[in-house]
Amino acid sequence: MLKIISVFGTRPEAIKMAPLIKELDGNTDINSKVCVTAQHRDMLDQVLNYFDIKPDYDLNIMSSRQTLSQITSRVLLGMDDVLEREKPDLVLVHGDTTTTFAAALSAYYHKVMVGHVEAGLRTHDKFFPYPEEMNRRLTAPLADMHFAPTASAKANLLDEGIAEGSIYVTGNTVIDALKWTVKEGHLFENQALNDVDYKSYRVITMTAHRRENWGKPLENICYAVLDIVQRYKDVLVIYPVHLNPAVRDVVFKILGSAERVMLLDPLSMVDMHNLIKRSYFVMTDSGGLQEEVPSLGKPVLVLRDVTERPEAVEAGTVRLVGTEKEVIVKNVMKLLDDQAEYARMANAINPYGDGYASKRIVQAIKYKFGLTAEKPEEFMPQV
Ligand code: UD1
Ligand code: UDP
Repeated sequence: MLKIISVFGTRPEAIKMAPLIKELDGNTDINSKVCVTAQHRDMLDQVLNYFDIKPDYDLNIMSSRQTLSQITSRVLLGMDDVLEREKPDLVLVHGDTTTTFAAALSAYYHKVMVGHVEAGLRTHDKFFPYPEEMNRRLTAPLADMHFAPTASAKANLLDEGIAEGSIYVTGNTVIDALKWTVKEGHLFENQALNDVDYKSYRVITMTAHRRENWGKPLENICYAVLDIVQRYKDVLVIYPVHLNPAVRDVVFKILGSAERVMLLDPLSMVDMHNLIKRSYFVMTDSGGLQEEVPSLGKPVLVLRDVTERPEAVEAGTVRLVGTEKEVIVKNVMKLLDDQAEYARMANAINPYGDGYASKRIVQAIKYKFGLTAEKPEEFMPQV
């Protein structure tokens, strides 16, 4: 039997790996194991519980205000025992976190093959996003199989000299996850969200937590929000705040007592996806939301200067607005005031996937290891 260990540690990796783990579990010729680093604790467990995933290994590395070096070294040390004991045929990692890079490096040290899910995203700026751009770039040469979500991600890998035969264009597994979560008439687990009057208010859902936005940029974002709710009495901002104290300190200080700003603890994934569906638009610095929100047909203002996800920007659903207060406010006002502009951006588009990414990835793995003669068809977005 082919033995595969999937390794992940943060909320977004869990959301995007869960559909793949379910797909792997459905194959009798694959022995699928899960190792979580728990770089995140509560935010990871929320997702594991929802998908009923019980890890075989839990490195439990998280500490408050952890540094990048701490994460890297704890993952490397923790993975030694796991790989020594299991001797898998393949380690699967996802995306661009420090767990991703450190787990891929560990697999290389143990001469185990690596499959990289969500490979090939690039901004070409090594500090934006930080440290994700380097995490994903450094994972590429360690990987033997590259699951690129889109054709442009594949092109980035080819530019870096990655062999074409090792790249599979699969779509993004996050679109697979949406099939599980978005439901008409969803009753929110967070009662405060059931109490919102979605007819009277235009709800802007927002998140902001990225390392490169800590400090001044995050303050600017919060002051922009204050300005907006003061100008528009029919706007309600809902902001589930990341558990990181470096983020919470700033956000609660500036927005803690603002009218029509709801600061919540992180939402369950299912609440988050259904909240997006009921929002007027979304403001975020997150990577994953840039993929989910366009597929739910809502505009997205991205609180960054560059993105590794250009497809929805090109389609007009996502706009980069940076982290300067005045620029953010101007763009929010345009979207609130100009119906034609709103209609142009509020198109449901799916450049990132069709819900079958996990199936393609599993088929590619089986093909690589001789369990099937057929390579998966490449994901092609519907236009
Ligand atoms: C991490 C990833 C980032 C990803 C993000 C998704 C790295 C370096 N960063 O950033 O790529 O986009 O996750 O959210 O890999 N904390 C808790 N409980 C939790 C989770 C976090 O208390 O469940 C707090 C801890 O104090 C922790 C801090 O948040 O030290 C930061 O967590 P960390 O994983 O280092 O950084 P993120 O900003 O979450
Ligand atoms: N998300 C969630 N609850 C929240 C905020 C976000 O479940 O309160 C989900 C969101 O829908 C997306 C993912 O978390 O699937 C994005 O993760 P995050 O913003 O932490 O990281 P990034 O995408 O920037 O790597």
